[in-house]
Amino acid sequence: MKAQIVQSQKPGLLKKTGWSVMMFGAILASLWSSQYLSLNPEAFPFNQQKMVYTAHMTMVIMHIVGAMLAILIGPFQFLPGIRKGRWLKLHRWLGRTYLLSILVGGLGGLYMAQFAYGGLITESGFAALAVLWLYSGFMAYRHIRNKDLEGHREWMTRNYALTLAGVMLRLWMPTSDALGIDFLMAYRVVGWLCWVPNLLVAEWIIRGIRRSSQRVDLSAATVSVQKTAQTNSEENVYAD
Ligand code: HEM
Repeated sequence: MKAQIVQSQKPGLLKKTGWSVMMFGAILASLWSSQYLSLNPEAFPFNQQKMVYTAHMTMVIMHIVGAMLAILIGPFQFLPGIRKGRWLKLHRWLGRTYLLSILVGGLGGLYMAQFAYGGLITESGFAALAVLWLYSGFMAYRHIRNKDLEGHREWMTRNYALTLAGVMLRLWMPTSDALGIDFLMAYRVVGWLCWVPNLLVAEWIIRGIRRSSQRVDLSAATVSVQKTAQTNSEENVYAD
């Protein structure tokens, strides 16, 4: 049992690599997004949408600033060390900033969904993503207000998996280009592909953690039953 607890406290190589990949992706997506912060449509990299973004500049910038903050803060919140001791205060403040960023970025994203390139398929894909992004952020907040740490962690895992749609979209698009898939067709598929698999992976991680904590609980219960049985038998010896 001891080995299992130690294992879950010290992140292994897989967790460290996963975290580094996540952080690297977050930095790349932020660098890409920062091209919009100049507010100069000439510098906007998405040629087909330049006119749309210029006409809805406030919402686009709201979306991008919120999304950039969230994607960069997220990985730090998953570091085990930041949720303990003197770092807990920082975790709380980063958490509040993260949720506020989701609110601003999510409302901006939901508004922009109606103008998404590619028509109804992408519009509905981004709208569904925005609604789930806002909803999972709200659920994570509600659980922590109710002091339910497990529920909070699970909803934050789902929420950040959705935030990573910002990375996946920018990975899937060049991949489909390299495969020779038509841009419009690819964009329609990627409007969904950038977040549905992320959510499935999050659900798989959540279930894995639930299963391993059940195993730890079970072994703790077994040890406690064994100890009680041992004490009882010792008491019986004395009683004899
Ligand atoms: C997870 C929820 C998100 C939703 C619902 C969402 C929604 C949208 C929508 C609807 C658009 C307009 C798409 C179009 O014109 O076809 C857009 C564009 C954009 N979003 Fe997001 N987004 C999300 C996450 C992110 C993240 C995490 C980032 C990066 C940190 C990001 C950065 C951008 C950028 C830079 C654009 C401009 C288009 C481009 O250059 O690719 N978004 N987003």
